[in-house]
Amino acid sequence: MNFKLTEEHLMIRDAARDFAQNECKPGVIERDTNKTYPTEQVKRMGELGFLGMMVDPKYGGSGLDTISYVLAMEEISKVDSSCSVIMSVNNSLVCWGLETFGTDEQKDKYLPPLAKGEMVGAFCLSEPEAGSDATQQRTTAIDMGDHYILNGTKNWITSGGTAGVYLVIAQTDVEKKHRGINAFIVEKGWEGVSQGAKEDKLGIRASDTHSVMFQDVKVPKANRIGEDGFGFKFAMKTLSGGRIGIASQALGIASGAYELALAYSKERKAFGKPISHHQAIAFKLADMATEIEAARLLCLKAAYLKDTHQNYDLASSMAKVFSSEVAMKTTTEAVQVHGGYGFVKEYHVERLMRDAKITQIYEGTSEIQRVVISRTILKD
Ligand code: CAA
Repeated sequence: MNFKLTEEHLMIRDAARDFAQNECKPGVIERDTNKTYPTEQVKRMGELGFLGMMVDPKYGGSGLDTISYVLAMEEISKVDSSCSVIMSVNNSLVCWGLETFGTDEQKDKYLPPLAKGEMVGAFCLSEPEAGSDATQQRTTAIDMGDHYILNGTKNWITSGGTAGVYLVIAQTDVEKKHRGINAFIVEKGWEGVSQGAKEDKLGIRASDTHSVMFQDVKVPKANRIGEDGFGFKFAMKTLSGGRIGIASQALGIASGAYELALAYSKERKAFGKPISHHQAIAFKLADMATEIEAARLLCLKAAYLKDTHQNYDLASSMAKVFSSEVAMKTTTEAVQVHGGYGFVKEYHVERLMRDAKITQIYEGTSEIQRVVISRTILKD
């Protein structure tokens, strides 16, 4: 067993750290307050290769492994999770799903602009009445021969307003239940596609989360992903990798909050010494460091299994549930370490605490991760 990162991994981690500290940190509080989409940062993520990290260079991607992706996600999420959720969805839900299951024509057409960040993609699974129970799709796609007619509404869609392309999950045959679900590539500009207002959220406020509506949208059959009826499995397989991205985001939020708490505790004095010298604070820092290290190992293990073509469904769910709970706990404690300063925006930790919450909800709630884990470990 070897825990050592390669030179290339370290280079990527450092490049992501530089980008986050120099280009995401300035303005992050204002973007959060005003719900301002990080246009410039997303453009730069494309230029730096962070939006198509694992995509084959022949499609304009960076051709890196999932470990590199985890490292970059952690660094960017330490600073700005509105940026890192856009990065995660584009990389692991949209690009990976297309590259793994798309036809050559689909990959040639859609992957290069997505991987280079000329446009971002969105993943449209959740609906007003189908969140955790993803088989209950109300969005329908009726087979008309050479095309489908798509109708329905998708909720809480990351990049719902800015995306150039949507991967849409829809029911094509109700009788067949989850085996009658398909996935489609839908372009933003097609007639009948529209978006609701940007959601006003607790955290990741700068990312654009919208409802997306489809009204009698004509989708060519060539834009269906995989065989007829593959859509539910497509969503499940894609989300397994997506959960590594969100686990790494949670890891980054936790380690960002920990670094701030550590630095503050060495500067702030109370009762004649830095608060880090008080055991009440020192023990909090010790727990944070230990739990973050455990979360990091789970994220890297899931990434390693994916990179070595082993089953990573269980590992990605374990990484996500653990890291997101560490993120919530660590950020709450980081606010506590900062005392009154932690409660104001200038010190960043209150934002990290708000951002942490969504990692327990999207791409499968903590409860859903426990469903996946318990079903796996209880299987005969
Ligand atoms: N890989 C491949 N196939 C899988 C699979 C996986 N990981 N998990 C399930 N399947 C298959 C099963 O084998 C089964 O197929 P067969 O009947 O052919 O054998 C089929 O899918 C149905 O499986 P289940 O009976 O286990 O399905 P279920 O209804 O009990 O639900 C679930 C399983 C795990 C709870 C699933 O519904 C789930 O993951 N729900 C959460 C949905 C979710 O994560 N939503 C996130 C929204 S996307 C988002 O947040 C993006 C964003 O913008 C940030």
